[in-house]
Amino acid sequence: IPPIVRTKAELRAQVANWKAAGETVGVVPTMGALHQGHLSLVRAAEEACDRVIVTIFVNPKQFNNPEDLENYPRTENEDAQKLSHHRVDMVYVPGPDEIYPAGFATNISISGLTEVLCGAHRPGHFDGVATVVTKLFTQTRADQAFFGEKDFQQLQVVTRLAVDLDLMTKVVGCPTIREEDGLAMSSRNLLLSDRARIKAPVLSETMEDMADGLRAGQTLAELKADAEKRILAAGFNKVEYLDLRACDDLSLLETPTRPARLLAAVWLAGVRLIDNIAV
Ligand code: PAJ
Repeated sequence: IPPIVRTKAELRAQVANWKAAGETVGVVPTMGALHQGHLSLVRAAEEACDRVIVTIFVNPKQFNNPEDLENYPRTENEDAQKLSHHRVDMVYVPGPDEIYPAGFATNISISGLTEVLCGAHRPGHFDGVATVVTKLFTQTRADQAFFGEKDFQQLQVVTRLAVDLDLMTKVVGCPTIREEDGLAMSSRNLLLSDRARIKAPVLSETMEDMADGLRAGQTLAELKADAEKRILAAGFNKVEYLDLRACDDLSLLETPTRPARLLAAVWLAGVRLIDNIAV
């Protein structure tokens, strides 16, 4: 099991040694409840960097709903066990005071990109992500940080953030890892009942069919109503959004005239699921 470090001071001391030896550092920021999606980022970090830090911090600032924060799965022992099969040099599990000490008053906010999709439905969420990610980058002094396309908007936001603030960490995006039935892996899948879990793949199936239609020249408008009906008929409670957007600035598209992504957020049995696919 890789060493677990819980303080910024200890993290800093270790990283200083690595840097002094001329070694590169990769970081994989997570909120734990690790699955194969997270582990694929760890593998990418292993390949690109001399040293790998995995961070586990359930960031209260990015939860807009206290119940969601309360229910978020916490599986530290299992997580450490899973990481033992990888070349991970350190698991950084900061206590809340290491990230938000008394008097903490800074908020990092990115405009534009955060005003749509999840940003429109989860007020403050991306400010919370941007603030914690900035701190994790500066605390770890990582050369590269690995993020999943699963959270496509988050990937765009942290990429923008790192460039805008001249952070020394380069953001690297990695493909979405899926279950055999197509469901995108997510820590939140643990919250699905057996009955809900059976219905869940209808989301990615519907999105794949929509993407085929778009590639064949149909417009979003021609496809969207039927797709929403199919998702709701399968037993989902709500489609929060189902949009076609440009990859670079997340502006709305009707047809994929430039590199585009179909993105969705839905509710299934009290659990919010998101997914996206390239078109
Ligand atoms: P978390 O949801 O734990 O995800 C950590 C990283 O794993 C993110 O970069 C996410 O995109 C990636 N990931 C999750 N599921 C994936 C999948 N199926 N395939 C590939 N990558 C996947 O995202 C967060 O935590 C937080 O917002 C965080 C960035 C840690 C800031 O608190």
